[in-house]
Amino acid sequence: MKKSNTICSSILMTASLMFSNFAIADAAMEKLAMDSGCITCHSINSDNPGDNSSKELPIGPSFYDISTRFHSNEHYVTYEELVRTIKYGSSPYRSHWKEKITGLAMPPNSETMSDIDMNKLLIWILSLNDQQS
Ligand code: HEC
Repeated sequence: MKKSNTICSSILMTASLMFSNFAIADAAMEKLAMDSGCITCHSINSDNPGDNSSKELPIGPSFYDISTRFHSNEHYVTYEELVRTIKYGSSPYRSHWKEKITGLAMPPNSETMSDIDMNKLLIWILSLNDQQS
């Protein structure tokens, strides 16, 4: 009995340590996204939690929706293309999100952000919903 209690509590401790590490990483990434100006146009959580037909369109797709779509079977874009969009901006003519956003272009970040920060942000964005097969 005693032994299983110890095992139980160490599992709990590991789980809570892991959780707090994730929470810290998330907070750091949210801050980086905020400081880099991304949150002006993108929300972190999904724009479509339910029926939102009456809602106004967002400027940029939510980070959660980008992750969902990236990990779906659509194969609509590669990781490299996403890095390029963050670095050099997007063209509304080649939008991946027609009718889901207002139709503005994303501005470039190559002058204001390091490649490492861009990749860190993208890895975090794509991890927001990577539960699909
Ligand atoms: C002025 C508004 C604006 C800002 C600021 C902005 N974005 Fe965007 N972003 C957009 C729009 C609009 C799109 C949609 C491009 C399209 O039509 O395919 C987009 C697209 C993206 C995509 C690619 C989505 C895809 O599926 O092709 C990623 C990734 C992304 N943004 C990340 C970021 C990050 C990271 C930052 C901050 C460094 C940022 N954005 C700042 C407006 C913005």
